[in-house]
Amino acid sequence: MGFNELPFKPTEKVSLAIEKIRNNAGYYGDPMCLELRKAIEKAYGINRDHIICGNGSEELLDVIARNFVNSEDEVLISQFGYIQFVLAANRLNASLRKSSEVKYHTCADNLLKLINSKTKLIFVANPNNPTGTFIPINEIKRLLTNIPSNVVLVMDLAYGEFVGFDYCNQVHDLVEQFSNLVVTRTFSKAFGLAGLRVGWCHAPKNMISGFYAARGMGSVNAMAQSAATVALSELDEIQSRIDLIISERERVAAALLDLNIETLPSYANFLLATISGQDKELIEKLVQFLFDEAGIIVNRTREKGLERFMRFSLSLPEHNDLMIKTCKRFMNFNSIMIK
Ligand SMILES: Cc1ncc(COP(=O)(O)O)c(C=O)c1O
Repeated sequence: MGFNELPFKPTEKVSLAIEKIRNNAGYYGDPMCLELRKAIEKAYGINRDHIICGNGSEELLDVIARNFVNSEDEVLISQFGYIQFVLAANRLNASLRKSSEVKYHTCADNLLKLINSKTKLIFVANPNNPTGTFIPINEIKRLLTNIPSNVVLVMDLAYGEFVGFDYCNQVHDLVEQFSNLVVTRTFSKAFGLAGLRVGWCHAPKNMISGFYAARGMGSVNAMAQSAATVALSELDEIQSRIDLIISERERVAAALLDLNIETLPSYANFLLATISGQDKELIEKLVQFLFDEAGIIVNRTREKGLERFMRFSLSLPEHNDLMIKTCKRFMNFNSIMIK
């Protein structure tokens, strides 16, 4: 439960698409991912010439950073922003600035305060990992309206489908209105294809050729392209999987609260949890206990300000039950008052 993946097997149709490519593994995938881009256009109404696919959205975050940032520049992120944003800036030897959050939420005003002449790129994950919190569409608009047009805002919607497909569409609509907005998406989370490595990016058309220049030729393999293309034709099934994860998220959060384990309000497929009123040593013990007693691996968030937390993905109900049961044993074992 440590990597924010989905626990489901690929659908029958996706499995068949993968199988078909297996028998043609001697051939390269299409470097331009044309069929996949057509499928994205059809599913979401986004012009395929404004889209580039990548080896997971992680590759695209790097590609974007390399297009706009050099070692003299600054990259701006939110206090608990996704770790890959930090790494993308580090790889370019660029300076990184972090704006403080308000109750673990990205704060548009605090981001705006830190913009200066060296700022070239702002990365915001929405919902964010590891906090799971998100900012509404009007906050994104406000951010875009107030940042200089030479500063690019990357809106990372890796978990956007858990807020809703409509919400994602509204963010994509803003790309038509603002020439400095880039949106990244992935098939790793809601679509459950993390192991195949496929993500995509929607940007103003004039940016796309620069992104191709900075991306590997064959970075999206044939199997990934085919599986993702078919997955887009099964949005009803994807939605029902999302619905199950969301209802499990609410159920697990409530069960843990009864055990005095609080979680942040999450809009993603994971929860960030802390033991009420306890310091980081106890969460450290809980993380070890979950592994030793139940083989459950969670993510121990050690970054400054999140030391008292652990992050875990929601899984199938039986796995989540085991998580709750093991937490309960731990709390009893440590004689911590349970409500
Ligand atoms: C916020 C966020 N963005 C992007 C990614 C990268 O996902 P992928 O490279 O699998 O598309 C992740 C993965 O955990 C993530 O949490």
